[in-house]
Amino acid sequence: MKFHLVSGACGFVGRNTVKQLLKRTKDNIIMVDDLSVGTHPSKWLPDFSSKKIKDVEIIGKEERLFYWKMDFRKFLHKLQENPDWLKNEYGLNVELGDAFHFAAIVGGRAKIEGDPMAVALDLSIDAEFFNWIAKAKPERVLYPSSSAAYPINMQTESDAVALKESDINIDGFTLGMPDLTYGWSKMTGEFLAKIAARHYGISIVCIRPFSGYGEDQDLSYPVPAIARRAARKEDPFEVWGSGKQGRDFVHIDDVMDCMFTAMDKIHDGTAINIGSGKLTSFIDLIKLFSSFASYNPTIKPLIDKPVGVHSRYCDMSFVKERIGWEPKISLEEGMKRVYDVAVENLKRER
Ligand SMILES: NC(=O)c1ccc[n+]([C@@H]2O[C@H](COP(=O)([O-])OP(=O)(O)OC[C@H]3O[C@@H](n4cnc5c(N)ncnc54)[C@H](O)[C@@H]3O)[C@@H](O)[C@H]2O)c1
Repeated sequence: MKFHLVSGACGFVGRNTVKQLLKRTKDNIIMVDDLSVGTHPSKWLPDFSSKKIKDVEIIGKEERLFYWKMDFRKFLHKLQENPDWLKNEYGLNVELGDAFHFAAIVGGRAKIEGDPMAVALDLSIDAEFFNWIAKAKPERVLYPSSSAAYPINMQTESDAVALKESDINIDGFTLGMPDLTYGWSKMTGEFLAKIAARHYGISIVCIRPFSGYGEDQDLSYPVPAIARRAARKEDPFEVWGSGKQGRDFVHIDDVMDCMFTAMDKIHDGTAINIGSGKLTSFIDLIKLFSSFASYNPTIKPLIDKPVGVHSRYCDMSFVKERIGWEPKISLEEGMKRVYDVAVENLKRER
């Protein structure tokens, strides 16, 4: 029986991928997440039911989801120590399908700047993953890199440009400076993806999502946090830094759509942008949310907070040309969805 594997399956992108796989396929899904950040599937899967065999939770009436609460590295060690581990221990005859690797220490700007060594542990998680795929040979592999891999000198207030895939040239002789340990680990992951494709014949694609957001994102991320504060009509409205810094916000449904399209069309480790192609400042974002809430707050900059690069956004022309994909959800539509959920959540809490 075919099993797709999703690491970090209980995080923001992982959860959305699991839901898509349930919709798009009839296959089984192995989910691994240590819940260091993620939330248990009982909180985000509709009609949740489960039974336990040893340390695996089998979820849903159809029994297609198999969830291990475990460090992904430990899971891979067990698979490598004994390739028949899943059969011997749980009676599962696993024919490996696609592997989606979302287990990572991410944590937003405060974590990326505040604890760069903890974020560098991504190197360890990724190295174990790449070593495993080289031997296990999944049908196809998805590696999430990030816009943080791009050179930071192309994202300053005076020199910001729409970042193109060709601005990172792993096969060339010069590389730019990525964004701290987070960006370096992603750049290393992209390098390993190329090696996996060339030396081990793995079908793999790397994606560089810009600022992915969605209704079910953790409140430690700016978009849902700003939506909630607007729904409460916060005034003055606090913003990290001057608020003039900008990002390329892309709805998670667009991220999913582009990711699955890319897996069908790219197999050689090539990395692609996933963004809207538009730069939006945090001040503009606050204005959009406060317009949904029908008020006009005073914006209060918090200049001691970490803000990262000034302007990070992408050029989506390579994606259009290479895989024929374009983003579909406008900023207004996507943010309105997040706002409506924030309003509902506040009502429920009252
Ligand atoms: N969300 C975005 O917009 C975005 C943008 C660029 C790149 N990415 C990349 O996509 C991936 C997923 O991001 P996300 O936003 O879902 O982050 P997230 O923090 O919501 O999810 C990561 C998940 O991995 C789990 N995890 C962490 N370490 C683990 C370990 N050792 N073993 C098992 N599970 C572990 C966490 O509990 C969490 O559920 C990351 O690699 C991230 O860098 C995301």
